[in-house]
Amino acid sequence: MALREIRIEGDPILYKKCREITEVTDRTRELAQDMIETMHDADGVGLAGPQVGILRRIVVIDVGEGPIVFINPKIVATDGEQFGSEGCLSIPGKYGMVRRPEYVKAEALDLDMKPFTIEGHGLLARAMCHEFDHLDGHLYTEKVEGRLHDYDEADYEE
Ligand code: NI
Repeated sequence: MALREIRIEGDPILYKKCREITEVTDRTRELAQDMIETMHDADGVGLAGPQVGILRRIVVIDVGEGPIVFINPKIVATDGEQFGSEGCLSIPGKYGMVRRPEYVKAEALDLDMKPFTIEGHGLLARAMCHEFDHLDGHLYTEKVEGRLHDYDEADYEE
């Protein structure tokens, strides 16, 4: 396992749409482990492929209940609304207020390419929205209401 370099706002790779993963290889497994290690090392709650320079639809999230790897994730249902602060490892030292659904149901594949369904409220719902947006080249700053703030204590600091 190894830490990967986190790409920072302005890097063109963060604004591109990622391709689906069609096969899990040893390299994919190594990437997932490296992403988990990199996320934990940076005290983040989530990390998406393009943030480590990989234009593939892979995300890792850990809201404190252990890491989850998502391959080719899709949001299939949302409900409610939450309005809270959000940050991103690719935009260090900043946060902004973002509206997200309070509940998210998603489908994805695991590292055995087996489909699974996951439901999340609150932080997990916010993390899924934020991370899956990265796979389509979108950053949370597009959705910020008001201005970006210097980091203090964001509710969601990736
Ligand atoms: Ni992010």
